[in-house]
Amino acid sequence: MAKNVTLSNKSLLGLRTLSAEEINLILDTATGMAEVMKRPIPRVPALNGKSIALLFYEPSTRTRTSFEMAAKMLSASTTSMAMSTSSAVKGETLIDTVKNIEVMGIDAIVIRHSASGAPALVDENVKASVINAGDGANEHPSQGLLDIYTMREKKGSLKGKKVVIVGDIAHSRVARSNIWGLTKLGAKVSVVAPPTLMPAEIEKMGVKASYDLDEEIRDADFINVLRIQLERQQKGLFPSIEEYIKFFGITAERLKKAKSDVVIMHPGPINRGVELSSEVADGPFNVILDQVANGVAVRMAIFYLLLGGQKK
Ligand code: CP
Repeated sequence: MAKNVTLSNKSLLGLRTLSAEEINLILDTATGMAEVMKRPIPRVPALNGKSIALLFYEPSTRTRTSFEMAAKMLSASTTSMAMSTSSAVKGETLIDTVKNIEVMGIDAIVIRHSASGAPALVDENVKASVINAGDGANEHPSQGLLDIYTMREKKGSLKGKKVVIVGDIAHSRVARSNIWGLTKLGAKVSVVAPPTLMPAEIEKMGVKASYDLDEEIRDADFINVLRIQLERQQKGLFPSIEEYIKFFGITAERLKKAKSDVVIMHPGPINRGVELSSEVADGPFNVILDQVANGVAVRMAIFYLLLGGQKK
């Protein structure tokens, strides 16, 4: 299926450490996987005999389900651990947990954790491939890849395209993975947020920081709208929801200032009526459910490229 079935690392921890060539390899492989998904029986034997563990220490709907579906479509077996009922609640360390899982014959561990760096720590302690399904405010690489895949599907090459990322930049692993990936592929990225949700040195990542959403969306090709992550905020970081909506919410009225073919994206879950009005979330500009569907193909590609060769 893919020409060059290799990534340089045994694991996928983030887009910061991937080259543009590796990102394109994953995206191109996902295009082939999307064809598999259209078959009457969407299953290939590529990962027959491989075992994948899904360890989600934080809630998830899209990421967990699509990793599980992706594994099954490649004929791998999956073990989905409910961390709230595992021995982690008795105090077992993360390293002890993953070492115990690995000796049962696991080939890959998909992990979501509230601590930035948890997947990297696991990677250092197991021979299995580790896939970061979101670590704290650090990275969410498979989300970044599926976002970029969806952008490429809608408007072709990302080179020179303008992407506005708006919302809770400070707490967003989705923003960071988007920024690393998009800038490597030549996109122009602007991040827009209230000052309290804008990281101090964000421009060092090669993006423009702005507080004026109306100005930034005028020539945007894509607007990627982030969720306000109330669960990661220590205290109120903006005066009121009403004020947030006024300056940073994406509404149909505000989109009159954007290009007629602007594409609206959101990683989910949506706070309807906060960062995105329902009219926009369900309207003609949005590709939100396309992103979710593409997530399965992208995650199939990740599994295939990490596990499809010889056992590491
Ligand atoms: N986008 C995303 O990570 O969604 P879930 O939290 O439902 O996995």
